[in-house]
Amino acid sequence: MGLILVSNRGPVSYRRGGSGELEAVRGGGGLVTALLGVAASRPVTWIASAMTPEDVVVWRRAAGGSIAVEHDEHRLSLRFINADAQAYERYYNVIANPLIWFIQHYLWDLAVAPEIGEHEINAWDEGYVAVNRLFADAVCRELEGGGAESDRPLVMLHDYHLYLCPALVRERHPQAFLHQFIHIPWPQPDSWRVLPRRMREAIMNGVLANDIIAFHTDKYVRNFLLSCEELPGVEVDQERAVVMTEGREVWVRAYPVSIDCGYFDRLTGSAAVLEDEERIKAARRGQLILRVDRMDLSKNIVRGFKAYDIFLEKHPEFRERVTFLALLQPSREDIREYREYRRRIVAVVEAVNGRYGTAGWRPIDMRMQDDFPCSVAAYKQFDALLVNAIFDGMNLIAKEAGLVNTRDGVLILSENIGVHEELGEFALSVNPFDLEGQARAIHQALTMDDDAKRRRAGKIKHTVRKNGINRWIEKQFDDIKLKRGGES
Ligand code: G6P
Repeated sequence: MGLILVSNRGPVSYRRGGSGELEAVRGGGGLVTALLGVAASRPVTWIASAMTPEDVVVWRRAAGGSIAVEHDEHRLSLRFINADAQAYERYYNVIANPLIWFIQHYLWDLAVAPEIGEHEINAWDEGYVAVNRLFADAVCRELEGGGAESDRPLVMLHDYHLYLCPALVRERHPQAFLHQFIHIPWPQPDSWRVLPRRMREAIMNGVLANDIIAFHTDKYVRNFLLSCEELPGVEVDQERAVVMTEGREVWVRAYPVSIDCGYFDRLTGSAAVLEDEERIKAARRGQLILRVDRMDLSKNIVRGFKAYDIFLEKHPEFRERVTFLALLQPSREDIREYREYRRRIVAVVEAVNGRYGTAGWRPIDMRMQDDFPCSVAAYKQFDALLVNAIFDGMNLIAKEAGLVNTRDGVLILSENIGVHEELGEFALSVNPFDLEGQARAIHQALTMDDDAKRRRAGKIKHTVRKNGINRWIEKQFDDIKLKRGGES
């Protein structure tokens, strides 16, 4: 079955190589990795935004049509959409991030923000709506060109950038089978009330044009169904997790995303990872606490360092015998809130290093970089991994690091992240706002006896392997088949 994948960030992005030629680089983040798994077993046309000037060159050369991509064992057909710069800025940097992202991660400080003024309203109409239309046009062109040969061609859309797109496609192709995966939390219904009614309703109507709406956890499914209950003319069957609207049944389902274990097994032995691992081992001073994150407000990086500060204060015996390695990838820096957050991170790191550091010891080794082999090397070497996000759809770092770690390292997991439903019982659970609790968890992780560590680490590896990426994909296709079959 051929299929059309749609996501804002594509499987590859282009840049200039050393001698000026265009080269494809794999798109960042867990979403691309997961979707490449979907693309591995079937012919796929992938529609995504042109995000770099080189992407635009590629788009122009293809005259807006599709490009054959062969990258890293993957073959697919890619079609870029190229919004004009101002529309894209409004769609991505004003509405999708931060407005919607902050709502879905409970990040707004409601006493002061957000404010929906002219700027935001224009960004909605001329940015978010306009770019969703471009995506819908591209999907329709694919459907009309026979991109997916079947009576009910399958379109799989991904994430919060594209909430309006399904309804725009449905209008023109009532027979298309539309599936949308939302990779971030779906919050409680009131959270959406920071948006004016017309925006809220457009989002809900857009998403409800799908045949199946997918999330990572049952909690997000429940929250979504509650949001639907507030809508006029919509019926919700909580037990079956089905919404009835405009004479159609919409299924709402949870499929916890996972990782490609085989890929990580190969990667851990690669030359690049082994080299970085040697460097980490050579610099090791006693135990290693690790975090690997995009520099996103939802990741709770500042509180993590404050908790470490409390830990060093209360347990001076650990000073000079532990290092907190923080591999942080700069992210969305065109957005003011992200730039400010980065400054706050730097300030807290300087404060902690200034307070406890000695001539030969830096308590926090923070590196702002996007270096995947180095992250995997650090995954292998940690004694405690801190994943204390405020809220997070899934968080694949915990799965990746838990799978490849070689030291029976302990996971410290926020109780508010999707992966906690799967791995929480083998980890130390923390509340992301509770600094004292996180400091205690760090101490507990670093003093846990070897047997307990081995048991927990073994359970984590077993669970991650059992629920690999193929299972995630198969379960979705099983439901698609079931729903299609039931209707034809
Ligand atoms: C995170 C989320 C994904 C989302 C992505 C967008 O990785 O988990 O659900 O699609 O961010 O990130 P970007 O870098 O493309 O803005």
